[in-house]
Amino acid sequence: MTTTTKAQMSQDELKKLVGYKSVDDHVLSGMVVGLGTGSTAYFAVERLGQKLKSGELKDIVAIPTSERTREQAESLGIPLCTLNEKSKLDVAIDGADEVDPDLALVKGGGGALLREKMVEVMAKKFIVIVDESKLCDGLGPGFPLPVEITPFCWEHTLGKVAALPSLAGCEAKLRLGSAATGSAVDGTEPAVTDNGNYIVDLFFKSPIKSAPAAAQELKDTCGVVDHGLFCGMTTAVIIAGSDGISVKE
Ligand code: A5P
Repeated sequence: MTTTTKAQMSQDELKKLVGYKSVDDHVLSGMVVGLGTGSTAYFAVERLGQKLKSGELKDIVAIPTSERTREQAESLGIPLCTLNEKSKLDVAIDGADEVDPDLALVKGGGGALLREKMVEVMAKKFIVIVDESKLCDGLGPGFPLPVEITPFCWEHTLGKVAALPSLAGCEAKLRLGSAATGSAVDGTEPAVTDNGNYIVDLFFKSPIKSAPAAAQELKDTCGVVDHGLFCGMTTAVIIAGSDGISVKE
């Protein structure tokens, strides 16, 4: 008989571990649940679908954070609604692109940051699920920071964002191709989000000095719809690594 150690597990297997654990540990019958977007959140949605099908969970209503997640949840028969019907969530579960020691996050690599933030900020508990590659000492250099902007005069807004004092030294690039991956189906056209907006990715050589200050400056910039800095929102992070699963609160 062979056993698979965590060290031998693929990144997808690690994502599945934390995705399943988040639902097993935090979702109870009768809850309103926010469903995140991305390759890790995919497994939480899958688990929720399984538990509803088996009858282990009942009376769940879920709010998806993207069209992709809505399609997956619908295909699994998960009852859905929007923030218009239920604006108080018991729990929201999502992945992240980077997690710093204060549990501040960069999100939006998958282009869903606006709906993610709108839904997750309304949850009593926000559970983040990642593999250990997402942990960092400071946000910025490890993953570009996405900013959702209006298509109207996007070059003007890109310039305003790149010149913000708290983001000094960043390189701003309009995301082309698919909003979900940034990879080019037709890489010459701007990527368009579920909300009809564009995304600017900010590339940093050194860590952002103050994520809350950067978040505020971005939010105060006309033309910016929202940004991928999620500060002060995280309840707990479930991390899968070579030593097993750990939780940071
Ligand atoms: C979607 O817009 C993102 O915020 C994702 O939640 C985040 O990028 C994590 O995605 P993965 O789990 O696919 O790495």
